[in-house]
Amino acid sequence: MQLALARTRWPLAVAVAVLIAAAVAAALLWQSQYRSASTAVAMTGGDIARAPDLIRRYGCAGCHTIPGIPGGDGKVGGPLQDIRQRVYVGGVVTNSPDNLVRWIVSPQTFSPRTAMPATGITEAEARDVAAYLYSR
Ligand code: HEC
Repeated sequence: MQLALARTRWPLAVAVAVLIAAAVAAALLWQSQYRSASTAVAMTGGDIARAPDLIRRYGCAGCHTIPGIPGGDGKVGGPLQDIRQRVYVGGVVTNSPDNLVRWIVSPQTFSPRTAMPATGITEAEARDVAAYLYSR
């Protein structure tokens, strides 16, 4: 009898353990995303929430595949993911927040023959976009 009871409780114990594991995993994921977002904001002084609209408005997404941007699947330039882990921007200048912002505003400053155009994006807007890219 006791054995039968123990057997019926097994699935419940497993279900609870799985639920707890899933909750812990979700909390850790949320925490790491929150941390990378706040680091990106601290690095750039930009506002991540403004970036998706700017990325569409200035045509970035037409030329680049950009994570988290619906329709952001351009193939003219390379994909803009894991930018935080890159050593160089455009292959010519060290990857720092200021250099990334300057590249986004005026890539020709660093790379006169680059195919990426100056899109007319302002420095403040480029900071928002840089914050977004570093948060991904
Ligand atoms: C007309 C197409 C075009 C548009 C529009 C464009 N880019 Fe680019 N972008 C490129 C090309 C091509 C490169 C590669 C340039 C190089 O390496 O010289 C590039 C390179 C980059 C890089 C460096 C990537 C790396 O791997 O080092 C970043 C960052 C970047 N673009 C961001 C942006 C942002 C942000 C916008 C919008 C404000 C934008 N681009 C708009 C074509 C474009």
